[in-house]
Amino acid sequence: MSANILDGKAIAAELRAEIKQEVAQLVNQGKTQPGLAVILVGENPASQVYVRNKKNACKEVGFNDVAYDLPASTSQVELLSLIDELNQRVDVHGILVQLPLPDHISAETVIERINPLKDVDGFHPYNVGRLATRMTNLAPCTPHGVMTMLAKTGIPLRGLNAVVVGASNIVGIPMALELLNVRATVTVCHSATKDLAQKVSEADLVVVGVGIPNMVKGEWIKPGAIVIDVGINRLDDGKLCGDVEFDVAKEKASWITPVPGGVGPMTIATLLQNTLQVAKS
Ligand code: GUN
Repeated sequence: MSANILDGKAIAAELRAEIKQEVAQLVNQGKTQPGLAVILVGENPASQVYVRNKKNACKEVGFNDVAYDLPASTSQVELLSLIDELNQRVDVHGILVQLPLPDHISAETVIERINPLKDVDGFHPYNVGRLATRMTNLAPCTPHGVMTMLAKTGIPLRGLNAVVVGASNIVGIPMALELLNVRATVTVCHSATKDLAQKVSEADLVVVGVGIPNMVKGEWIKPGAIVIDVGINRLDDGKLCGDVEFDVAKEKASWITPVPGGVGPMTIATLLQNTLQVAKS
């Protein structure tokens, strides 16, 4: 059996087209154009690519993108004062600070400084708390994008045994909360988990976000399982690969995301959805 491909690229393109239409309507009605501030500190090459993709998506749908490419030497005080300014601006609906930040800046302090109502990444403890209490306001983009992709593909999740590999604030923890909220039975695995292979082999749905190329072996996958690979790793030869051994896993899974072209475009489409939600509120 060879798995069906979960086509995040195509679903995200549909979502962007819908958002573009909605933005045109808002602007026609004389309402505010959605504005997203994207802040990059330093020159992490992967972050530069992600930020460029986010800005391009903003342009495509007609958002006003307010870009700040700041030097690595930017102090925490300077970054916090920029956030204070953006929190006040009525033309800025979303504020995104690309992570990771340089070591001399505390990501926690920066995230907590963003007005939670403009926190389109969904990383502020307020928004994580809303998600955890089933009163979702702005949900973290990657896990929420995964949920949208599964829903649009018509894959029911209620009652499934879901295994999330990786317990990061950006992916694993909010992914587990999203899956709990649709009544999957969720196991979260991390670097101290015993017998990961056994855990994964019991999963009807496995979501992997660890940032280690091919870490989850194809042979671990339960026949017919749904496999979501959030990883995007650049190998020495320049090729991109996920956290799951795709070629072997696709022979066992019923559905699988490709890398690239799976989860990545859904993350960006969800960021646009979140920004539009704030602009409309
Ligand atoms: N770094 C890796 N993923 C993300 C993301 O979704 N948002 C931000 N701000 N930084 C990231």
